[in-house]
Amino acid sequence: MSSTVLKIAALAGDGIGPEVMREAIKVMRVVEKKFSLTVKITEAPVGWAGIDAAGKALPAATLKLCQESDCILFGSVGLPDRDPTIPKEERPERAALLRLRKEFGLFANLRPVKLPKELSHSCPLSKERQGDGIDILVVRELTGGMYFGQPKKTETVTTGILRAIDTMVYTTPEIERIAHVAFRTARLRRKKLTSIDKANVLENGVLWRDVVTTVGKQYPDVALDHMFVDNGAMQLILKPTQFDVLLCENMFGDILSDEAAALAGSLGMLPSASLGAQSGDRVFGFYEPAGGTAPDIAGKNLANPIAQILSAALMLRHSFGLNAGAVAIETAVSKAIASGNRTGDIFSPTETNARKVGTTQMGDAIAAGI
Ligand code: IPM
Ligand code: MG
Repeated sequence: MSSTVLKIAALAGDGIGPEVMREAIKVMRVVEKKFSLTVKITEAPVGWAGIDAAGKALPAATLKLCQESDCILFGSVGLPDRDPTIPKEERPERAALLRLRKEFGLFANLRPVKLPKELSHSCPLSKERQGDGIDILVVRELTGGMYFGQPKKTETVTTGILRAIDTMVYTTPEIERIAHVAFRTARLRRKKLTSIDKANVLENGVLWRDVVTTVGKQYPDVALDHMFVDNGAMQLILKPTQFDVLLCENMFGDILSDEAAALAGSLGMLPSASLGAQSGDRVFGFYEPAGGTAPDIAGKNLANPIAQILSAALMLRHSFGLNAGAVAIETAVSKAIASGNRTGDIFSPTETNARKVGTTQMGDAIAAGI
């Protein structure tokens, strides 16, 4: 791998995106040296930055760069308060993020949620409920369901009365392929898979449960159970330690992954990998922090860069098969936390031996630990 060039499109986007991306690139440069890699990182605008630079949330040149790259390291897009006159279809969430997910067929979204023991104070649950630690992988289907189903529109019924329609739709192959991803990753972990659905009400839920059960027969070593999404949301709060891998359709996964991230201390700690289908020995991957643009703290050196940096680790592992590089980053993050570095979101004044640091200082501490 050392002779190959790792071609990475870095799209920082809006809000805290540019600041946390800077730290991830800093860390990647250290990994490049340490592992004798050749890393080509090309930056391009996306989101409101794309609209400002080229009039579109996903400028043609940015899309072209992505198509010519091995993977995308993404920041975050969307500033809810900016320019309400821009039509919803052209706003960054739909025109850039959802478009990229669809364009590259990124159907499998992996969101690893882990509460480091040093951060047990940032978890909103009592110590007893945290048990021996929270370690959950949310596997979220990312290109189907209510996000993309047609029809999707708002129409006039009669004067003054509007009707909004979103359509939840899944086919068996769509459920099968995400189920295989979930079972395969469960095999590499504690071999327990909880599939989330709403089979008591939704046709989609019944099909989801049937297909996951059938796929599960090929993985007799993985313990499978099913949970309705409302119960799943409650169980996450009551007893998060019962979960290993959580398999969810698109919208349920969106919701439960934020809930799970809060258990791990902060949304600023949650990386993600979105993967397409395997082609040869490669999968096209998209790596982003799950936390969003956080406009209230943008540009103030306050954001936690860990989710972005851990996303780069997932990129090394899933797009380039460089597990050692990924582990080096993950270990450096653990060390930076263990030695007391805390951005505001994970800081507690009751902790001894911890100090509040800014975005760049956290990045420096992690880079120094590689
Ligand atoms: C996420 C985000 C996105 C989603 C938004 C920004 C469109 O919440 O990645 O979880 O809903 O998928
Ligand atoms: Mg979300």
